[in-house]
Amino acid sequence: MKRVITYGTFDLLHYGHINLLRRARALGDYLIVALSTDRFNSVDKHKKCYFSYDERKLLLEAIRYVDLVIPEENWEQKREDMHLYHVDTFVMGDDWTGKFDFLKQEGVDVVYLPRTPEISTTQIKQDLNRN
Ligand code: CTP
Repeated sequence: MKRVITYGTFDLLHYGHINLLRRARALGDYLIVALSTDRFNSVDKHKKCYFSYDERKLLLEAIRYVDLVIPEENWEQKREDMHLYHVDTFVMGDDWTGKFDFLKQEGVDVVYLPRTPEISTTQIKQDLNRN
C-alpha cells in the first residue's frame, strides 16, 4: 500500500483544497493529512483561523480522499512523521516548491502539485470583507 502525506491549515475548506486532496490521494492508496493545530497556526504560522482544529478535522475526515488526520504541531516533525507513518510520498501545493526537498533524504518522493488558481482562504476572507 502506497502512503501519501500532506500538511496544511485547511481553514474555510474550499475547492482548491479538495483539488489538492484528490490529486494527492491519486498518487497512492492512503492519504494522511497533517493538520496544523490552533497553537501552531497562531504562534508559528501567524495565521488566524476561523474554524478550530476540531472543526477543521471534522470537515477533512468527511472527505472521501482523506484516510487519516493527524496534528501538525511544529515545523520539525516532518522527518520523524515520514518514518512514523511509513510514508512513500510527501505532497504540497506548488507555493512550497523546493522548501521540503530535504525530505528526500528520508527516502520519500517529494511532489509539488500546481495550486488551483484564484482561490485561497485569504482571498475568501478578503472578498467577504469587501461586500
Ligand atoms: N492549495 C491549492 N490550491 C489553492 C489553495 C490551496 O492547491 N487554491 C493547497 C496548498 O498549496 C496547500 C493546501 O492546499 O498544499 C493547504 O493550503 P492552505 O494554506 O491551508 O490553504 P490556502 O487557501 O492557501 O490558505 P491561506 O490563504 O490561509 O494561505
